[in-house]
Amino acid sequence: MSVVADPHVSGATRFPRDLTRRIVQRMAENSLDTAPHAMAEPASIFTDPVQFERERELFFRHGAHVVGWEGELVGPNTFVTKDVAGVPVLITRDGDGQLRAFLNACTHRGAQVATGCGEARRLTCPYHAWSFDIGGELVGQPEAWGFDEIDRATLKLQQLPIASIAGLLVVGLSDDVDPVGAYADIAEHLEGYGYATHEVVASHSWTLQANWKIAFDVNLEAYHIASLHRETLNPLVMNNAVHDTFGRHARWAFPTRAAAVMVDLPEAEWPEPALVTVVHTFFPSCVLLETPVSCQMFRIYPGRHAGECTVELTEASLRPVQSDEEREARKRGGDFAALIVGTEDFPVAEQCQRGAEAGLNRFVFGKIEPMLQHWHATWRSALES
Ligand code: FES
Ligand SMILES: [Fe+2]
Repeated sequence: MSVVADPHVSGATRFPRDLTRRIVQRMAENSLDTAPHAMAEPASIFTDPVQFERERELFFRHGAHVVGWEGELVGPNTFVTKDVAGVPVLITRDGDGQLRAFLNACTHRGAQVATGCGEARRLTCPYHAWSFDIGGELVGQPEAWGFDEIDRATLKLQQLPIASIAGLLVVGLSDDVDPVGAYADIAEHLEGYGYATHEVVASHSWTLQANWKIAFDVNLEAYHIASLHRETLNPLVMNNAVHDTFGRHARWAFPTRAAAVMVDLPEAEWPEPALVTVVHTFFPSCVLLETPVSCQMFRIYPGRHAGECTVELTEASLRPVQSDEEREARKRGGDFAALIVGTEDFPVAEQCQRGAEAGLNRFVFGKIEPMLQHWHATWRSALES
């Protein structure tokens, strides 16, 4: 994977200059942002079934979730479907450009009215062929006389809260969720990345025998890169990381090895985009990872029990795709990421889960892992609130 030059990426600045400056400073000092102290959490947070159920209810069923990019719904009368923590979700854009989200469950008896994504004015349920317009209204009902006592207006698709935050699609899985409020602390820091035009070019998914927090944790520090990713990522990046928190959400960023040239160059001559990786992490469990040439989203959700989770990886193009060649080039970036996490990070996440289930008493998070400290403190206080 080249992280230096790519003919499909414009030179526009995506990364905030002050963030790049801090990374270059850390490279010059050969240091990184740290936490004041090491900390520990009981290993039972990854195995306790009571905690697991509370997290599912509080963080997921009553949470706001980044699920994709607005660029996935490029024109009028388009839709995309998502699995969000086990809930089938349908997102549509109508003829006027209005975004809506629905439970992807037919109001007859629950079958999914759409799969995948595409362009449509009507979505027809495969079971008994009820059809719904892109705004969710029931517009077709074979043998409608059989239901004539039920007010048709009550048979529209069940709506869910949705907002576009700087071009990211944020969905609530219940009516009481305010997606705008949930992302208010970080929204302004997400501007400038062009999410409204990102298109999905590749998807991968896994079911892991690991708690959802362990799968999330593999994305929160570069400390493991020199050992776990010795042959793959270590030749490409360095651990001179900086981090910031925005309420519950957080961001960290670290340089590519090629960025070393920036230490000795005047700022005016720094390459654009900067040769860094920026990772946004959203409550409760979404990771948005950007390199100079790629953008990947990891959505990590609880599985059927505390020791299981699912991971969805989507790779986006940084702008609307112009050609098959460009789509293939972008897809290769997603495949490379999938190969690394699938063969290096996720097997070790499952090992950590086995350690927790074997009776290890605690997990420790060092000063060198400040993002892990932020996330474990955030989940803990969210459970207590
Ligand atoms: S379940 Fe959809 S039409 Fe019957
Ligand atoms: Fe990793």
